[in-house]
Amino acid sequence: MAKVQRIYDPVLENDWHAVYLASELKDQPVGVIILGERVAIYRSKDGVHALQDLCIHRGAMLSKGWVQNDVLVCPYHGWQYDASGQCVCIPAQPKGEKIPARAKAGVYACQEKYGFIWVCIGEPVADLPHFEEFADPSYRPLPCGPYHVAAAGTRVIENFTDFAHLMFVHQNLLGHPDYAELPDFQVVKEEGRIYIDQIPIFQPVAHSGSDKKEGTTYVYMKEVYRPLSARLSKADPSNGQTLWIMLTVQPVAEDECIVFMIVSRNYAFDVDDANFIQFQDTVFDQDARVIETQKPELLPLDLQVELNHKVDRFSIAYRRWLRELGVKVGTI
Ligand code: FES
Ligand code: CO
Repeated sequence: MAKVQRIYDPVLENDWHAVYLASELKDQPVGVIILGERVAIYRSKDGVHALQDLCIHRGAMLSKGWVQNDVLVCPYHGWQYDASGQCVCIPAQPKGEKIPARAKAGVYACQEKYGFIWVCIGEPVADLPHFEEFADPSYRPLPCGPYHVAAAGTRVIENFTDFAHLMFVHQNLLGHPDYAELPDFQVVKEEGRIYIDQIPIFQPVAHSGSDKKEGTTYVYMKEVYRPLSARLSKADPSNGQTLWIMLTVQPVAEDECIVFMIVSRNYAFDVDDANFIQFQDTVFDQDARVIETQKPELLPLDLQVELNHKVDRFSIAYRRWLRELGVKVGTI
């Protein structure tokens, strides 16, 4: 197994990261990596839990073990850890003897929301936001991904803020080169988020599930609300059909990440969900193929390093914000 290096980031380690599809976490523990830290997640009757993926006895990975009576069992010598990380049983030890006080596993904050398992390996600075469009019954939320990307998570978020690529990378799906000129738009920065309120983008073919066949001008809202989390809405003003996408990135390493998405729509409930997932898979694959080639691999926060054009003002605002927050991982 490859050596995993823990990387430190004052901001990202205190943030929540989606690490797994909730529907896929069943009765087996699973190992995930956040900022180079190995984490074992598992489900018990009380909910979901995250422990450091390291048995203090001989360093085996707890995620390779199993869950038995709601405790996590190490696969090497069967030590058992409860949800607080406390070792509650050492099978080789004579019955009735005390378990050593140091027999513990590190424990991390863990919760299930929006169809994902979220973990914070530091001290969560805030709870996960509440997005009503993912709880509103007139919408239908659908988890997409995970998408493994050999690139910095910051490059993925920047791509999400970018409008000028839609007509090229997603040609004929989300835009067309003949309609590449962007309308004027304003980036607003508020406490804890940067966003663009409304920007119209012409799309030659209507989105899947739409009853329209001809091109449509969609109105987008885009928002970055955490260094590695963003969302957008895309609305057809003529009929109110709206699609929300939340995208969040699990930083595995400096230049490696896993992307999770929720796509929530208020239309076309009769269209098979698989169509929407497949569409998102296609679109994200198109993005990943470009993002993985970008150099430098990490996002330059010095605005002189790449050519920042005024049409890139959302991405410029993102870079400035990262610098202000002090985000290190995925940036130079
Ligand atoms: Fe885990 Fe020995 S290494 S029980
Ligand atoms: Co894209």
